[in-house]
Amino acid sequence: MTDPILAVEDLTVRYGGARGATTAVNGVSFEVARGEVFGLVGESGSGKSSVCGAVMRLLPRSAHVGGTICFDGKDLVQVGERTMRAVRGRRIALLPQQPMTSLSPTSTIGRQMGWYLGDVMHDDAVRDTLVSIGLGPVMDRSDALPQALSGGQLQRLLIAIASLAHRPSLLLADEPTTTLDATVQAQVLRLLLDMRTELGLSILYVSHDLAVIAQMCDRVGVMYGARLVEVAGVVDLFDSPKHPYTQALIAAMPSSSPRHERLRAIPGVAAGANRLPGCPFAPRCPRADELCRTTMPEPEVIGATTVRCHHVEAGS
Ligand SMILES: Nc1ncnc2c1ncn2[C@@H]1O[C@H](COP(=O)(O)OP(=O)(O)OP(=O)(O)O)[C@@H](O)[C@H]1O
Ligand code: SF4
Ligand SMILES: [Mg+2]
Repeated sequence: MTDPILAVEDLTVRYGGARGATTAVNGVSFEVARGEVFGLVGESGSGKSSVCGAVMRLLPRSAHVGGTICFDGKDLVQVGERTMRAVRGRRIALLPQQPMTSLSPTSTIGRQMGWYLGDVMHDDAVRDTLVSIGLGPVMDRSDALPQALSGGQLQRLLIAIASLAHRPSLLLADEPTTTLDATVQAQVLRLLLDMRTELGLSILYVSHDLAVIAQMCDRVGVMYGARLVEVAGVVDLFDSPKHPYTQALIAAMPSSSPRHERLRAIPGVAAGANRLPGCPFAPRCPRADELCRTTMPEPEVIGATTVRCHHVEAGS
């Protein structure tokens, strides 16, 4: 890929702890093109938020990060905290799962919008944008505290702040609609896609909801047990998944349409963060053999797809 906005290479995140280390991300590599929505999908605990935390450098002190995260010609794993402060929230914005975690519960909405948007807030164009994305009623209640707003209003407010305050190049959205009902979720997703078009945003979109991934993303990375096991264009991923885990996820959907389904349980127990050598999916994989149980498969490029599996040809 020429000149991606984000290039993650061989990323490793390990958390230290009294009861031993946990490897949450292991040898993960992917790129996000300019203007692209790249999805990260996987079961709970597969390492998605740890990838986002590493990009934003917002991991706890116990975390050890290896590999490179190239953004704007800088390796974010290596740069100093001063450089990182200029990047975080400005060049790269984060949209969290729980909007309230990013807002103060004791300051009014108007005050907090002022902190982030400053004088820009009074520009006619910005006010028009805020109204056009449904924040007119919120601005009329600018003396209210954030907890007086609905989840959808809060998430729209955060998208507006994240997109308009510093015009970031990259937005990290870590399950931003999980707490919203279906109608509000659809509005928030629409808004994100509109912002992408209007501002030329690139988005790293994390979700365990296949329907949202299908709707939002241009390309998708599937995580399993701290590894990225498949990276493919969204159409290829749903039409011809190559990794047995991706195949199991899609086969577990009730219809061939990915439109209405979250990740369902597939047989077996999800890989823990500390695991045996070999492929992490081996205990659940119908194709597993001795090679799988002893040797980690390396990423293999097949057309526009990258897949980590010893036996891709056997099933696809
Ligand atoms: N601060 C931490 N200290 C120790 N282990 C952690 C910490 N944060 C995450 N982990 C572990 O790292 C692994 C990956 O966690 P992570 O939160 O990145 O997964 P996730 O894919 O985002 O899951 P979810 O879908 O539940 O949000 C898990 O085993 C988790 O228990
Ligand atoms: S490497 Fe082996 S165990 Fe792992 S997904 Fe492929 S076939 Fe299954
Ligand atoms: Mg997470």
